[in-house]
Amino acid sequence: MRNRFHSLCPYFAMFPESFVERWIHELTQPGDTVLDPFCGRGTTPYQALLMGRQAVANDINPVAYCITRAKTNPPSLSAVRRRVTLLEKCYVSHDWDLDAASLPEFFSFAYHGETLRQLLFLRRQLKWGGSNVDCMVAAVVLGALHGESHRSPSYLSNRMPRTISTKPAYSVRYWRERQLVAPQRNVFAVLRRQLAYRYVSQIPPATATVRLGDMRELHRIRPKIRAHCVITSPPYLDITNFEEDQWLRLWFLGGPPRPAPGRISRDDRLETPDRYWRLVADMWRVLGQVLGEGSRVVVRIGGKNLRPKQIIEGLEGTAVFSTRTVRLISHEESPIRKRQTPSFRPGPVGLAYEVDCVFSVA
Ligand SMILES: C[S@@+](CC[C@H](N)C(=O)[O-])C[C@H]1O[C@@H](n2cnc3c(N)ncnc32)[C@H](O)[C@@H]1O
Repeated sequence: MRNRFHSLCPYFAMFPESFVERWIHELTQPGDTVLDPFCGRGTTPYQALLMGRQAVANDINPVAYCITRAKTNPPSLSAVRRRVTLLEKCYVSHDWDLDAASLPEFFSFAYHGETLRQLLFLRRQLKWGGSNVDCMVAAVVLGALHGESHRSPSYLSNRMPRTISTKPAYSVRYWRERQLVAPQRNVFAVLRRQLAYRYVSQIPPATATVRLGDMRELHRIRPKIRAHCVITSPPYLDITNFEEDQWLRLWFLGGPPRPAPGRISRDDRLETPDRYWRLVADMWRVLGQVLGEGSRVVVRIGGKNLRPKQIIEGLEGTAVFSTRTVRLISHEESPIRKRQTPSFRPGPVGLAYEVDCVFSVA
């Protein structure tokens, strides 16, 4: 059975588990350290732990950090259940009337009034940055915050994609035109159901080191990282803006109640090849400092109007910034088969394929 924590919360451009599993199996031994400097939903570190490796993960986006930390540092089911019970006991609906009324119009279309008040309460109460228990509760809410709620009672919002949060004006128009009304959901009940479902899977025996921040600072982690293998995927050239696509989840974690691209990362959607390859060069610079001898690096990368040959040349060309001897061992191209949100985000596909490159670093 697929481990149910992998799908705790989706993320745009996430790795399939099978991709990470294959490379961990081929390139590492039990006990080796696997690193992902752009971890997203944490597929690499979580799969590494499941396979008896050590894991280090980093991402600049708090959504990515929260999900990754929750699944790689999971508390016991009983501790999370106790916390949910306590939270529910402390919740007083009308305390949240004013906060709910002061939110932008989007929220009254997106959520039933009672659901929204419960979300506001949890948003204030959860200390997800400091406690592993609260981090798990927050991550489960993030996974349920929006989705195709007409198909599943596990989603809290009016009809939305699960992978990304659509923009406010577009969403309101979509719901108005179709006369779609937000479903009434009890967040505490959804939390309990979700926890029971996820914890059927075994949690890994070890925990990962997870860092929130720019990967350019990774070499500062103490004790110093010595990675045997990197499996990663930097943002793609001119494809998506993770802050914009995750704006509603970022709001739940304490951010503003609207999309605010550029607030967190300067690298999310680099539009020119020049700026893009500078980011990749920075990645290599940091990897040069944290990789052990004889290590391997697997990079999945793509970009609008970038041909596979250009991607491979760009990766090889920027590898000099690691100041190590880096050799391309293999590469594979895979076409992008389906868009993740076709009915909600019409428009040109833009990206035709992505390339996986494997390097050795001496
Ligand atoms: C392609 S996604 C990674 C998806 C991941 N492989 C998964 O399975 O979910 C790229 C990630 O890079 C992160 N990112 C963007 N700029 C960054 C930076 N300067 N430092 C660290 N992470 C960054 C984004 O927040 C995003 O989560």
